[in-house]
Order: sequence, then C-alpha cells, then structure tokens
Amino acid sequence: EAELIHMFKGIPFTTRSSPELLKSLDTFDAREDDVLLVSYPKSGTHWLAGVITKLYNTQVTLTSPIEFGDISKLEELNKLSSKRIIPTHLDYNMLPPKFKNKKCKMIYIIRNPKDTAVSMYHYYRDNPNLPTIDSWTAFFDLFLKGDVVCGSWFDHFLSWEEHENDENILFLFYEDMKKDLPKVVKDISLFLGLHISDDDIQDICKKSSFSEMKSDTEKENSNPKHTVCALTSNRKLIFRKGTVGDWKNHFTPKQNRRFEEVFNEKMKLSKMAKNLTYEL
Ligand code: A3P
Repeated sequence: EAELIHMFKGIPFTTRSSPELLKSLDTFDAREDDVLLVSYPKSGTHWLAGVITKLYNTQVTLTSPIEFGDISKLEELNKLSSKRIIPTHLDYNMLPPKFKNKKCKMIYIIRNPKDTAVSMYHYYRDNPNLPTIDSWTAFFDLFLKGDVVCGSWFDHFLSWEEHENDENILFLFYEDMKKDLPKVVKDISLFLGLHISDDDIQDICKKSSFSEMKSDTEKENSNPKHTVCALTSNRKLIFRKGTVGDWKNHFTPKQNRRFEEVFNEKMKLSKMAKNLTYEL
C-alpha cells in the first residue's frame, strides 16, 4: 500500500511519477507554442483535452502529463515534432520554469471542490494505483487535510490564482462548461488564436458531450491507455457521472459545515473565491 505514494517537495505523488523525473522537471525545455492544460485531479481535465484537440486542424499531439513516467519522459517530449498539448496537475511552483519564461499558453480548469472531492473519492475506490479508502467519511477528512495525491485542493488553486492576471493563463470553470459549452469553446479558441466557425463550435460541443466521450472510450475509438491524468490506468474510469452538485448526495450537513469553514479560512485572501461560478 504505502509504496503506491511517495512525497516530493511536500506533495504526495503516485509512484507512476518517478522521483528522478520530478527532480529533472526544472531543466525541461519548453517551446513557445506549447499549450499546458492544468488542473487539480477530477476537475474535467479529459473533457477540456477532448475539446482542445478538436479545435486544431493542424497536427497537434496531446501528451500524457508531464509529471507522469520515469526519467525518459522528457526525452520523449523533446522528440515530438508537432505542436504539444501538455497536461499537468503540478502546482504553479513546481512547473518547469521555462514554461513561465517563454510565456507559454496555459489553461487552468477549476471545479467546485466539493464535487471534485466526491469524484476523487470514487476514483480512489476504482483505481488500483491509489491507496485503499475505507469510506467516504475517511476520504472526506483526507481531502480536507490535503492528504491525497497532488496535495491540497486549496494550495493547488491558490498557487495558480496568484497568476490570475497573467495574460498567458486562461481560467475556466467546469460549471461554465456544463452551462454553456459553446461560449467556453469560443473563449478557448480566441485565447489560442484559432478561428473557428460557429458550425464547427456546435460540432465540437456535440462530440464533447459526456455521453459521446463515454461511448467513444467504451468503443475504444480512443486509446483506453491514453489518459491525461497521472493517476489513471484506464480511461474508462474517467466517465462516471459528469454532473454538477453530486456532492449533495454524499456530504452530511455536518461535513458541509466543516468544508465551508475550511474553505472560508483557506480562501479568505482569494479574490476569485468571491466570484466563483458555482454555488458552494
Ligand atoms: P465525475 O466523477 O463527477 O463524474 P478528470 O478528467 O480531471 O479526471 O475529471 C473527471 C471528471 O470529469 C469526472 O467527474 C467525469 O465524469 C467528468 N467528465 C469527463 N468528461 C466529461 C464531459 N464530457 N462532460 C461532463 N463531465 C465530464
């Protein structure tokens, strides 16, 4: 059990991210046209990746997460000749500095942390690469303490929010994608400097619906091994429910009060917390 997780710079990683790789990230050579997809796990990373790869009509490669694998990973990325779309769950502070210096475009997707916690709970239960969890109650405590892979949701969000005004970073909400996907797709395409017709946007949205993406994965129209999350061994585990507010089916009133206490305390200096698009 214990060997599934190791700590690096105070953050729990699975052993699928080797310490050698994590150490060598600092020297990774970014390219100006790299696009990073950044998220805390279970925030809609695969959904966003599905949309973005459909936006390009030139050759792009959606890689596995930069922190996933062993030391040979960076070499592998260096060899790619096409434009790279690179997912990551890294904290801002752990991001290879060259992505920052070269002002690469980055898209950070946020989801209501209550729904993220519930999604992650189910994921822990279904995923052999993650430690065993006895109950929702036990997981709830671990999540609030940040004692889960990728560490604290709050620390992750806050490390990125500090860069809210950086022109090369776009912040997106899972809940906005649920509410009005065409608008978000339009925003993404403008941010990436792509010109997409309204018809194409409609088509991309249709192909990116939960049911389409789930059935594509089941039919293996997409490689089940190709995940954009460093924790996933099987893409089929990703498409569980895909709704807003599932936390209401899991949180007790007491857990909800406790969560909000911690949220208000941790987020008291957060500007974005005041206008989050979801109802906490
Ligand atoms: P649930 O567990 O709540 O269903 P990630 O890709 O970051 O691991 O996030 C996974 C979550 O995004 C899962 O949440 C999954 O169902 C949801 N998701 C994936 N594709 C989706 C889509 N096309 N529309 C809505 N939600 C989607």
